[in-house]
Amino acid sequence: MRFSRRMDGLPPYLFAEIERKIAEKKKAGVDVISLGIGDPDLPTPAYIVEEMQRQVADPRNHQYPSNAGVPEFGEAGAAYMARRFGVTIDPVKEFFPLLGSKEGLAHICWSTLDAGDVVLVPDPGYPVYAAASLLVGAEAVHMPLLPENAFLPDLDAIDPEVAGRAKLMFISYPNNPTAGVVEGDFFERVVAFAKKNDIAVVHDNAYCELVFDGYEAPSFLATPGAMDIGVEFFSLSKPFNMTGWRVGFAVGSREILEPLWRLKTNLDSGMFEAIQRTGAFVLNGPWDFVHEMNALYTGRRDILVDALRHIGLDTPSPKATIYIWIPVPAGYSSASFAAHVLDQAGVVVTPGNGYGEAGEGFVRISLTAPDARIREAVERIERSLRL
Ligand SMILES: Cc1ncc(COP(=O)(O)O)c(C=O)c1O
Repeated sequence: MRFSRRMDGLPPYLFAEIERKIAEKKKAGVDVISLGIGDPDLPTPAYIVEEMQRQVADPRNHQYPSNAGVPEFGEAGAAYMARRFGVTIDPVKEFFPLLGSKEGLAHICWSTLDAGDVVLVPDPGYPVYAAASLLVGAEAVHMPLLPENAFLPDLDAIDPEVAGRAKLMFISYPNNPTAGVVEGDFFERVVAFAKKNDIAVVHDNAYCELVFDGYEAPSFLATPGAMDIGVEFFSLSKPFNMTGWRVGFAVGSREILEPLWRLKTNLDSGMFEAIQRTGAFVLNGPWDFVHEMNALYTGRRDILVDALRHIGLDTPSPKATIYIWIPVPAGYSSASFAAHVLDQAGVVVTPGNGYGEAGEGFVRISLTAPDARIREAVERIERSLRL
């Protein structure tokens, strides 16, 4: 049988490969410590599970969801944007639910791009931006995120001819995988660049609540003019340990959101209303749980950073996300170092080149294991490097 040519260039999803390797090791009896996938190790807190139990029992949630989403979720999203960022959005026309932000990031490529269009994607970047662009036949032009530029793309380095042809640009801060955060007037410069070149901007803000040391992550939409050209994607996955629930939302420019919404109403039948109503409950607060998790991640970050520096690895201490992005030791590539620590230490880290060419020479380590396992992982890595 011969299937879609569209699929030919699509590699297996980075983490599908990593999961396969972990399963192999476990089967061989290895006690694997996974610091690979960015999936919080602790469960969804009880106050959220209990609300969901009430919502599941309510028959008004049992039928097809309305296409527009339940009003409570939009209102809670608008209240969150106002309270947290001072951004005003219309809860009906400028908000809608996503079945996790991943599908929204993928589908926006279908609602904004045609084959042959240029899309600007960060490199390294969350793999979905480039993969979804490839599926629509668009040309993904990579914007390197380098340590010397604080992991921000150099907008002046983008060829004006390419910028002129670009229709869409993805950015994401706090950033996965580099843990970079927005500095200075970067968002203002993005708005000016997008307006000059008539580009729609997607700001993926999945990590804005995972912040340390008093850092506050901004909303792109709070930048003057951003609502005209931009949309922002939020996710309940990481701050509330709800990765399995598949709940996020998009806010921003109606002109950009309307085609995405129209596409999605043709593809999926919306989000289980019990999840939407629980999502509204979560956004309305209290937010103590997020602060507790950030305190926990701060402790893990400090343990990991100190231990890695102690064994001679050049390790920055991030202000946000649940990731540490480190250069691999001399003599290794991203892939050979990740393979070495998996084979010799039973520790899973993610090779940086899996996020794009500019990620070569780095690995990403997640803070998603208890303190003792993080300490043990670094001890094992140290031993493996002495071999
Ligand atoms: C940068 C970024 N955006 C979006 C997502 C998707 O999150 P979800 O689909 O769970 O909302 C992830 C998940 O790892 C991510 O790292």
